[in-house]
Amino acid sequence: MTLDRFASPTIAIDGPAAAGKGTLARRLAAHLRFAYLDTGLLYRAVGKKVLAAGVDLSDEAAIQAASSLVVADLDDPALRLDAVAQVASRVAAVPAVRTALLHFQHAFAAAPPGNAGGAVLDGRDIGTVVCPDATLKLFITASLPERAARRLKELRERGSEAIDSRVLRDMQERDARDLSRSVAPLVPAADAVVIDTSGLDPDAVFAAAMRAWQARVSEG
Ligand code: DC
Repeated sequence: MTLDRFASPTIAIDGPAAAGKGTLARRLAAHLRFAYLDTGLLYRAVGKKVLAAGVDLSDEAAIQAASSLVVADLDDPALRLDAVAQVASRVAAVPAVRTALLHFQHAFAAAPPGNAGGAVLDGRDIGTVVCPDATLKLFITASLPERAARRLKELRERGSEAIDSRVLRDMQERDARDLSRSVAPLVPAADAVVIDTSGLDPDAVFAAAMRAWQARVSEG
């Protein structure tokens, strides 16, 4: 696979919650002047719509919410709430929800907004399902205790009275659902570069990702 096969280069970043994907994706996008899509927000927005409608969490309610999603739905700070993350990982297991959201993601990667020279997408299935031909695939991971500690710090910085054991348990539950679902489970693509961020600071993660990008570009 060579770079000139791609009309618009794409970097696919996958990995479990709180591994550092978002921080890395934003930084790569800013550095390369690519557009950035946090695909978790799509699932969170669907989850929040179901919660807001006050209906039971049925497949039908989730499919309806996914089909009526608009870009403005992604702009809601409440999407960051942990309660929304839990519902997001439930609706993400519904195959028709994933299909409904594929179009949005493909359109973004094919024609990055703002005339950007490429796109960075992060999520759980970007390298495996959404953009299997991505120029570079990264799988960003870290140990469960480290990810839970990062999430706890983030929640406390936001003024939430999060409890250690609860954050760890919620993350374990979400990991289990994301890993075990039958459709598009969280797995590294065969050709992904895996970066374990345990014990690494964001600068070291960025440097490792840029080395992978440069290697990919010089191969092309
Ligand atoms: O990355 P996040 O924590 O915002 O994602 C929220 C949930 O959405 C996560 O538990 C799994 C799901 N998700 C997914 O299934 N596929 C994606 N590409 C992105 C997120």
